[in-house]
Amino acid sequence: MQNEVLKAINERRSIRAYTPDRLTDEQTNILVRAALEAPSAVNRQPYHFTFVQSAETLSAFRNEAARLLKAQRPDMPEDFDILRGAPCVCFVFADTENTWSPIDTGIAVENMALAAHSIGLGSVILGMPRAVFEANAETWKPRLECPEGYEFCVAIAFGVPAGTKEAHPVREGLVSFID
Ligand SMILES: Cc1cc2nc3c(=O)[nH]c(=O)nc-3n(C[C@H](O)[C@H](O)[C@H](O)COP(=O)(O)O)c2cc1C
Repeated sequence: MQNEVLKAINERRSIRAYTPDRLTDEQTNILVRAALEAPSAVNRQPYHFTFVQSAETLSAFRNEAARLLKAQRPDMPEDFDILRGAPCVCFVFADTENTWSPIDTGIAVENMALAAHSIGLGSVILGMPRAVFEANAETWKPRLECPEGYEFCVAIAFGVPAGTKEAHPVREGLVSFID
């Protein structure tokens, strides 16, 4: 059986190369709705989504991440871009008092990834930005409008894909059926 939802689930990939095109307002609105329509435990919605399309802000974040990575792992190339060249990144902050917030955030992020794919955009979920918040929260939390009492949880980058990727290999033994 196949339908539009299953097709998006089957075909979504982590895209790590993008054209420089900005997302349109219509595209960002679709992503915002996908995030806000996600289910959350007790409907608490314990997250905040900051969509960044400012080239200046993204470039400052990229450069700081590259400096940090190089200091931690000298084998990394100096120009390694943790944001994968994406023209739009949504940074997701989560309420640290809410034990379900990482799960709620993951669901919202996957909703956005599927919505992006369904409108011809690529996306990649990003955990690596955490290193930047760990090293320099005092700069980046206010600059990215992280609410009081919230911490960086995960990010997701979007853009027009400039590359493709194979489906990921699936590990053995991940599923049991008890009939
Ligand atoms: C929580 C999480 C964090 C991730 N962090 C990164 C990241 O920092 N950089 C990156 O290139 N991909 C990142 N990924 C993407 C995974 O590497 C990718 O989902 C996985 O290899 C499977 O490939 P697929 O998404 O194309 O199916 C992350 C994915 C998840 C769910």
